Amino acid sequence: MVGRRVLVVGGGGREHALALRLAESASVGHVAVAPGNGGTVAPLVPVPIAADRVDDLTSFAVRERYDLVVVGPEAPLVAGLSDALAARGVPTFGPSAAAARLEGSKAYMKGVAERAGIATAAFGVFTDADEAARWIRSRPAPPVVKADGLCAGKGVVVAGDHAEAEAAARSMLVDGAFGAAGRTIVIEDRLEGAEASVHAICDGERFVVLPPVQDHKRIFEGDRGPNTGGMGAYGPAPLVGKALEARVAREVFEPALRQMAAEGAPFRGALFAGLMIAPDGEPALLEFNVRFGDPETEVLTALLDGDFGDVLAAAAEGRLDPTALVRSDRHAVAVVLAAHGYPGTVRSGDAISGLDAAARIEGARVLHAGTRRDGERLVTAGGRVLVVSATAATLRAARDRAYEAAACIRFDGMQLRRDIGHRALVG
Ligand code: AMP
Ligand code: GLY
Repeated sequence: MVGRRVLVVGGGGREHALALRLAESASVGHVAVAPGNGGTVAPLVPVPIAADRVDDLTSFAVRERYDLVVVGPEAPLVAGLSDALAARGVPTFGPSAAAARLEGSKAYMKGVAERAGIATAAFGVFTDADEAARWIRSRPAPPVVKADGLCAGKGVVVAGDHAEAEAAARSMLVDGAFGAAGRTIVIEDRLEGAEASVHAICDGERFVVLPPVQDHKRIFEGDRGPNTGGMGAYGPAPLVGKALEARVAREVFEPALRQMAAEGAPFRGALFAGLMIAPDGEPALLEFNVRFGDPETEVLTALLDGDFGDVLAAAAEGRLDPTALVRSDRHAVAVVLAAHGYPGTVRSGDAISGLDAAARIEGARVLHAGTRRDGERLVTAGGRVLVVSATAATLRAARDRAYEAAACIRFDGMQLRRDIGHRALVG
């Protein structure tokens, strides 16, 4: 049998991990990545089309007879890439624009959660700054202020006091701090607890839950400093044990999929529930993302056995067999190596070395994110540069291997957190 031809859309560590995992699948014969990054080398094939060029990607996938397109980032999904491909008969792993509103509009997401009866923070939706201010003042604790639309992870203000929340609401609604994305805002009560990332692969109706993962969003150790896209992740996260995972399946994914189908927007693709687990163990939904997390994917792809290509194709074609996805009994840790200046203004063009030595560490894999080839050299070309992912029989061993591999890598200004997985490893 000639294997499936798969096109992965995106250029981060998530897409590198997905592409390599797909290339290992027996059912897959060819994997291209558009646009990819400095790590898109054989057996992966780079395609120089940016992830937001919906028409060009669609024509390319049709012309080159791709059997499956796997979309990494949210922006092309919200822009309708999945619909454009479906209209031309190309099976696509990733939701329609209508279903991608779960991430594209926080007000829509909160509405779906409310209609589906999913536990989530009390909220209000506002376009008027004075009304927003009145709501903020009416809450006993300072609430969280969020721009409704996509802001590349920057549109959320977890305010320290009421005045800061009010200022954030005014800057979005009056000063246009986030442009059109902030013309509507969601304000919600602040939840306390620990965050977890739980993903499900969905085919519109059926779903399979993936091992729970925990991300580390702050730039500095001890969860200090500004938020980032994610500085490292590990899984399975013991914070979400078997019983809690079953509740999340029953009380989050099941009602969400039923509600989306009832609203005429069945969800096909990776649905990522960002959860807050309260100190008493109660889960609440913070957000839905309509794609795999990054760096969560660099952990998840290391924790799944079986033919990943078959599973994603079945989900894309609406015939998912939830038993086809096999969880390994390994543990995985992914450590992000970020560029000088991240998450602020980053410097590019720093030469990277040590990748071969890192890849020789048992169980370790180096995934490229913001890298670029410059002749013979590999240089930094983005905020999150590389993600070192390692697996082992225990979380502790996976962590040690990831850091051993990370220690081989050098570039000027490299930043990493040394405490990835610490919450699960205390004591
Ligand atoms: P979001 O993009 O909505 O997940 O928000 C980004 C981050 O802000 C989350 O990962 C949390 O760390 C934080 N956050 C969002 N909503 C809340 C909330 N209601 N309570 C506490 N923290 C929140
Ligand atoms: N790591 C969080 C995200 O992908 O949104």
